[in-house]
Amino acid sequence: MKPILKWAGGKRWLIPMISKMFEHFRDFRLVEPFAGGIAIALGLLPKKVLLNDANCHLINFYKWVKNGLDPTVIKMENNRETYYENRRKFNLLITKGKWSSPEAAALFYYLNRTGYNGLCRFNKKGSFNVPFGKYKHINYVLSFEEYETVFKNWDFSCGDFENIDIMPNDFIYADPPYDVEFTQYSKNGFTWSDQIRLVKWLDKFQNPIVLSNQATKRIVDLYLSYGYSLKYVNIQRAISCKARNRTREVIAVRNTTIEEHLIEKLL
Ligand SMILES: C[S@@+](CC[C@H](N)C(=O)[O-])C[C@H]1O[C@@H](n2cnc3c(N)ncnc32)[C@H](O)[C@@H]1O
Repeated sequence: MKPILKWAGGKRWLIPMISKMFEHFRDFRLVEPFAGGIAIALGLLPKKVLLNDANCHLINFYKWVKNGLDPTVIKMENNRETYYENRRKFNLLITKGKWSSPEAAALFYYLNRTGYNGLCRFNKKGSFNVPFGKYKHINYVLSFEEYETVFKNWDFSCGDFENIDIMPNDFIYADPPYDVEFTQYSKNGFTWSDQIRLVKWLDKFQNPIVLSNQATKRIVDLYLSYGYSLKYVNIQRAISCKARNRTREVIAVRNTTIEEHLIEKLL
């Protein structure tokens, strides 16, 4: 199934590779500590899934889809006026402490599809501040029923990855925000020490683990030092409606039944 949201760092291209690994663990629960656009879960459609993300608005949206969200309760029009009106309503719900309401979830969907590049950005006061996206045409989903059925047995949680309870029969796919070397800037506030914290946390488990990241030198060194087998992939990404960017990504694998020499053949 296709992701419902536009989300930076979507991993649909990784589905064929992960699916070959996951077929050895079909009875396992898939755990995504950095769920984002949930491309992998929707690609594999496992019976049991735990999707976690630090972004509570995102998780609130998925939880309401699971509970039967009707997106038509709000005005869904692709024009500047409606966009800023809906953005104001969304921010008002946040101020009133009603960010976890179904209306906030429907507005989150609309803002994600209509805002600039599907960005999800908040100012220091916690208000959503992404400008209008100026798309020529948007196919809004008017019913999430298909997703509701799939989500019925899936669990969603919001918080830092370290709060997740990992069980013996979990297959972990971790896709943290990219490491950005040589700059102070870090996406979503995910710093270099968070990248290390993630690898140390994962090291506590014997479970099958797949990690993906930008292949910066320090990430490659870090993953190698924790015993992962690595595979490199060059990916072309849309960074805006017009611009494209090539990045070198690394897929790091541990405790799966796939031996290092076989990873080469999986992409
Ligand atoms: C690269 S995106 C994941 C993309 C996803 N795999 C997909 O296919 O769309 C990284 C996600 O990590 C989340 N995140 C950032 N810091 C986090 C943390 N400390 N714990 C859990 N999630 C976090 C962000 O909100 C973002 O959604």
